Amino acid sequence: AAAMAAERAPAMATCTAPVNIAVIKYWGKRDTDLILPINSSLSVTLHQDQLKTTTTAAASRDFTEDRLWLNGKEEDVGHPRVQACLREVRRLARKRRGGSEDAAALSLSYKIHIASENNFPTAAGLASSAAGYACLVSALARLYGVEEELSEVARRGSGSACRSMFGGFVQWQRGERPDGTDSLALQVAPETHWPELRVLVLVVRGREGIWDSGGSGGAVSHCLCPPQVSGEKKPVGSTAGMQTSVETSPLLKHRAEVVVPERLAQMMRHIRERDFEGFGQLAMRDSNQFHATCLDTFPPIFYLTDLSRHIIALAHRYNAHHGHTKVAYTFDAGPNAVIFALADTVAEFVEVVRRSFPPATNGDQFVRGLPVGSAALSQELVAAVVTEPLPGAVRYILHTKPGPGPQLVDDPSQHLLGADGLPRSR
Ligand code: DP6
Repeated sequence: AAAMAAERAPAMATCTAPVNIAVIKYWGKRDTDLILPINSSLSVTLHQDQLKTTTTAAASRDFTEDRLWLNGKEEDVGHPRVQACLREVRRLARKRRGGSEDAAALSLSYKIHIASENNFPTAAGLASSAAGYACLVSALARLYGVEEELSEVARRGSGSACRSMFGGFVQWQRGERPDGTDSLALQVAPETHWPELRVLVLVVRGREGIWDSGGSGGAVSHCLCPPQVSGEKKPVGSTAGMQTSVETSPLLKHRAEVVVPERLAQMMRHIRERDFEGFGQLAMRDSNQFHATCLDTFPPIFYLTDLSRHIIALAHRYNAHHGHTKVAYTFDAGPNAVIFALADTVAEFVEVVRRSFPPATNGDQFVRGLPVGSAALSQELVAAVVTEPLPGAVRYILHTKPGPGPQLVDDPSQHLLGADGLPRSR
């Protein structure tokens, strides 16, 4: 019976994948089905010690249907983007096997079970769909023994997911071909290239209820589907938003054709030279132009809030006080701010944020992630930079840095699915 059970245990693979934050933004598709962008983009992959998705994919002849669990809750596996990723990985596996029936290879006809979890609260703006699809594709590829370049497959899940297939600094080149075979992610530099670079994610208080799983066993909506926000009007998601922008914004057209090609070359140079001043200024300008294209969309889309504008103004006052660019902000299609800084600036700027947005509760930690030293602020700095504090507006700060791409999890005790193919209660 023991031998029987062993033989029947599902084949399983577990991977982790990172979040990325774009410094030259992707906004707009030229092909909505294949997810082909109107411009190239460039991002920084964030470290998985702070932000990661873990996904287990399992296959067994005993499974009677495909199933998917996100953060412990069963979701619709028929989601077209999940299906596109599954189809493409299987296609690569079939190609690899060259049509020959390899008895040792895992059958492509078996049903699969997938479980995926984030180590961070599901939230608009933490780019969790990128980590989610990068992780799904990595785990499926491992399960089927596919070793090809997979950013093209991850792109079918979510455009920005292709950039989460590499660590460090990553370019998604738009490509020219209509079939998308040249619309790929490429690593510009590894995470070790710029050891002093740090990232602060300012997680803002906002639509209550979506930031935390609230101790309910993590049973909240996950990245593969847009988060459900109850009780309040949901801002337009990036997929729908960018399509309206493509259809209506002349600024976006100009941006894609003229501005981004120039900026991409500049940004690559700033990264290569580790020029924080240049990198930071261009990241801020590109975030601002992305949000300008949202305002230029008709009807307009607003992702920046009053709080975002407070944070933007604070960063500019801080840089002006120091006489050069020491911090740089960037915002995606959600209210959280992402700040880039060099390591020697972090403690002081975190203190500035703490003074500007005094934590409302003393219960949970205001600063999370990598340790942050203490800093005493000069009177001049406080007077010049900290104007009208907004208590409680920033919920916490996550301190992180650039990190590596998807990882294989070797330890079988870390699988999210048990030998019965069902999510492990943890
Ligand atoms: C503002 O990759 O989420 O974060 O391809 O439709 O899934 P889909 O969109 P998505 O868009 C990300 C937009 C952005 C900018 C960026 O990450 O480059």
